[in-house]
Amino acid sequence: MAKDFSTMEDSNRSANPSIHEVSDPARRIFVRGGLAATVAGLLGPLAAGCASTGGGNMAAFGRSIGFKSIPMAAIDDVVVPEGYSAQVLYRWGDPVGIAGQMPVFRPDGSNTAAEQALQAGMHHDGMAFFPVDGSSQRGILVMNHEYVDDGLLHVDGMKTWTAEKVRKAINAHGVSVIEIQREGNAWKQVLPSKFARRVTAATPMTITGPAAGHAMLKTAADPTGTRALGTFNNCSNGQTPWGTYLTCEENFADYFEGVEQPDAHQRRWGIRKGNGAKYRWHEHEERFDVAKHPNESNRFGWVVEIDPQDPTATPIKRSALGRAAHEGAATALTADGRAVVYMGEDSRFEYIYKFVSRDRVKPGGFAANRELLDHGTLYVGRFDVEGTGEWLPLTQGKGPLTTDKGFASQGDVLIKARQASDALGATKMDRPEWTTVDPITKEVYCTLTNNSNRGASGQPGVDPANPRVNNTMGQIIRWKEAGDLDATRFAWNHLVLAGDPKQGRWEAQGNIKGDTFGSPDGLTVDARGVLWIQTDVSTSTLGKGEYSNLPNNQMLACDPTKGEIRRFLVGPAGCEITGLTATPDLRSLFINVQHPGEPANERSDPDKPLAVSKWPDGGGRPRSATVVITKNDGGVVGT
Ligand code: FEO
Ligand code: CA
Ligand code: CA
Ligand code: CA
Repeated sequence: MAKDFSTMEDSNRSANPSIHEVSDPARRIFVRGGLAATVAGLLGPLAAGCASTGGGNMAAFGRSIGFKSIPMAAIDDVVVPEGYSAQVLYRWGDPVGIAGQMPVFRPDGSNTAAEQALQAGMHHDGMAFFPVDGSSQRGILVMNHEYVDDGLLHVDGMKTWTAEKVRKAINAHGVSVIEIQREGNAWKQVLPSKFARRVTAATPMTITGPAAGHAMLKTAADPTGTRALGTFNNCSNGQTPWGTYLTCEENFADYFEGVEQPDAHQRRWGIRKGNGAKYRWHEHEERFDVAKHPNESNRFGWVVEIDPQDPTATPIKRSALGRAAHEGAATALTADGRAVVYMGEDSRFEYIYKFVSRDRVKPGGFAANRELLDHGTLYVGRFDVEGTGEWLPLTQGKGPLTTDKGFASQGDVLIKARQASDALGATKMDRPEWTTVDPITKEVYCTLTNNSNRGASGQPGVDPANPRVNNTMGQIIRWKEAGDLDATRFAWNHLVLAGDPKQGRWEAQGNIKGDTFGSPDGLTVDARGVLWIQTDVSTSTLGKGEYSNLPNNQMLACDPTKGEIRRFLVGPAGCEITGLTATPDLRSLFINVQHPGEPANERSDPDKPLAVSKWPDGGGRPRSATVVITKNDGGVVGT
């Protein structure tokens, strides 16, 4: 989610030990060049390209990047390299495809709340392609609808405010499950489809795992603490080897109107008076009023598992993965088949998490793995000097996580994962966004999008992993576990510090080998080992200040063994580029264009909806949309 730097959530006031101090800025910036010899000896070098069966047959294509880089420009279209085509596939308001219930989109915002529940939500984000029968020609596409622009969602925007508008906004959040099919070089949505589904911010869900039934999860509507309504602010995602979709609840605090005197727990999670002004749900949906329902917000901030094959399946909030302003949930397997989930928490000075399942994945899809994500160990990352790090277990009774410190049960640890991570001394990062695991080397990458508060008065200073004050540009960090993915130690360095060499401040210049970018967010290593980077520069910043040469958001490709970064796509005016997934043959790449036309204040004027962008329809209202990219000669995208 693009956020104004001035209003970004920043609630970490813990006094974690400052073990990260490094006095030499040159050493900080060049740590990316490779690991210190001692570390290399200890853990083996990063980016060594060790042999692996990961990536399947596609790894044989190699990581090479063959397309010609495109220039950055202030345009209002999706631009891709010569020899490629981009096709709009699924826009806000398009019917999801439920038989007999496919309301037509009304470009003036006049669809009802009930119709919106049957149509694509707004602000498409994380996304995953599930092949039907292993096919690269037909599949189920699942995607998040992160948040809404109420200025576009309703005919007169927020000029009046009604229960119907709140219901429509609730129904424009959540997840879409659609079916798509390739015909020649074009893709089309299968309408109707037996898979079609909308999950919204009102869909009934269960809460499972160690925190289920915890006193802090109990509400008047759910005295069991196991049944929640809906999911929202779903940012990035995960795709499990057993065929399910993970959707991650990010900035949930923005939806809850807090109280004048928040308690320490509410303060740590940013549940403040005035939050409700953004979406105004609490005015018509009482559960978003913290004064009346103090525990409702504890039921958000989870990773939710959805079975895309069964539109009647109840989504499951997996408490074992911990509570956070979850960005994504990249999933991979240990050599013996246990699931490992990497998760960033996107707020200033928050943390990077890893979950390792207790049990091995069994053959037989979701039916055989229904409780896999309910049992395991959650860790939080500490990035030390000299490029080493440690995963600290968030386990009740270990270290400071004891009853006298407020952690009487594992449920306490998981619901209060931020406080537990503070107590363990985890490293406060520059807004961790997406994580991704290289299927060939098993190196893990994470985007740290930016943090303009780094080094500000009263705020944490730099550390080796977060080496720049007033970090407007962000960086991509990577690590390799010391052994298998379940290891508790790792070696790390920076793939790149983003920036623009033409800027005056060294902290904004970066060290990119290739095309300029800042605020990396979406991040995926594809099956042949190409790292795709998507940017989310907030619309209040695009084209201004240190982003003067970056008027639009973009997507780039990188061969991480060489470090060269090349621009592949530029998006329309006022959008974020996000949500990358591909067919197994890598001949179709899907991305999401989120909030084209978003003005700097993130709320459109319903009387001038086309003020910033006319994409994709050329009229009506701008619409977030899924775009599919193919190579005109039918080849692998990026080669
Ligand atoms: Fe929703 Fe952190 O981006
Ligand atoms: Ca966004
Ligand atoms: Ca994001
Ligand atoms: Ca972002």
